[in-house]
Amino acid sequence: MKVMEIEGQRELSGTIRISGSKNATVALIPAAILTDEEATICNIPEITDTNALCDILQALKVDVKRASESIIINPKQMENIEITEDLSKKLRASYYFMGALLGKFKKAVMYFPGGCSIGARPIDLHLKGFEALGAKIKEENNKYTVEAEELKGANIYLDIASVGATINIMLAAVRAKGTTIIDNAAKEPEIVNVATFLNNMGAKITGAGTSTIKIQGVDSLHKCFHEVIPDRIEAGTYITIGALCGNPLKIDNVIPEHIDALLSKLEEIGVDIEVGADYVSVKKQEKYKPTIIKTAVYPGFPTDLQQPFTILLTQSCGKSKVIETIWENRFMHIPYLRELGANISVNNQTATIVGPTKLKGTEVVATDLRAGAAMVAAGLFAEGKTTITNIEHILRGYEQIVEKLTSVGAKITIKEI
Ligand code: EPZ
Repeated sequence: MKVMEIEGQRELSGTIRISGSKNATVALIPAAILTDEEATICNIPEITDTNALCDILQALKVDVKRASESIIINPKQMENIEITEDLSKKLRASYYFMGALLGKFKKAVMYFPGGCSIGARPIDLHLKGFEALGAKIKEENNKYTVEAEELKGANIYLDIASVGATINIMLAAVRAKGTTIIDNAAKEPEIVNVATFLNNMGAKITGAGTSTIKIQGVDSLHKCFHEVIPDRIEAGTYITIGALCGNPLKIDNVIPEHIDALLSKLEEIGVDIEVGADYVSVKKQEKYKPTIIKTAVYPGFPTDLQQPFTILLTQSCGKSKVIETIWENRFMHIPYLRELGANISVNNQTATIVGPTKLKGTEVVATDLRAGAAMVAAGLFAEGKTTITNIEHILRGYEQIVEKLTSVGAKITIKEI
């Protein structure tokens, strides 16, 4: 078993460079099978979620070449084989193969996806979208067969502005006959990145990044080169760590507009930040003000940053609140924060944090990816040693986290025990 050990209370200074976005990459890789030619994607993060998607590509007999931060995907010889339960369950984003295979072959067979246990995570909106395009869906023991004689453009209204459903419907619709309109679409930057990729391959998508996306179906897609956007959640995590330990900590390769909601909250509580064209520099302060965070779809405060941000709120003077509106089960880090010394109570979807409190290192668990990131932030700030177990969750989403933090002065290691 791998554990992460952190000796806390060290000042962090220097520069951390942000990698390519996990949540864009995990959609771009399945999207690449929609062409019959070669797609080259650069700035791919070296994380276990990327590896899991490459395993699926290989099972589908897609030719995959990886070189440092790039991936070359050639689906010329691919076969539309059922994606096994093992592979489907390795990560949430395996579900993007449903849309991509349906778009390309008019048929996809795979199992309910895996991923962090942060809520029920249904896929009903994805399936309703496929049905609207003309697909029939059969579900038996968690195995989904989605099939259409022909995919036809449709008007689809999403009851919830779901990131996954927006992307999946786009993937299925790019090669459908006619025009598809997705209303109440999610607006996250990762969706824009995927739409740009598809357009680079010859798709006709407009409106990505707004709540109405229009997709005019095309017969085929061609070869292309594409770059993954920087990971706004990785950036936000390190910026938050900078507010706890930075002296100063510069976070480089950032698109600041993608993290506006985080930056304004940091300013509101009194964090010393400098925002440049593609970087954010942060210096820790002795005292922070309390605040209220309410997670929301983009451009609101991201649910994926609520957990790391809570560590900062343990250092605010007074009562703060975190209201989680996206996932039912995203407070699993709270019991461990209490063990570290935080004063936090949870009532339904609201956590109340009273600070400032000292944090003292102990043994904690990374219950999911961002809860794991929160444990890392807490361990870096706490007195003494923090040992984190279940770190495979963290490694799913943070490229070279140990190397990046060590390079700015943290004492952090991964040990096999
Ligand atoms: C994406 O998940 C991200 N994952 C999540 O990041 C992120 O938390 C989430 O968007 C919200 O920003 C990836 O991009 C791989 P949703 P996704 O569909 O697409 C409900 C991380 O830590 N819903 O926008 O699965 C759903 O239950 C991860 O990097 C339905 O009811 O999220 C949730 O309450 C965790 N039916 C809400 O919508 C559906 O068919 C938003 O989910 C789909 C979603």
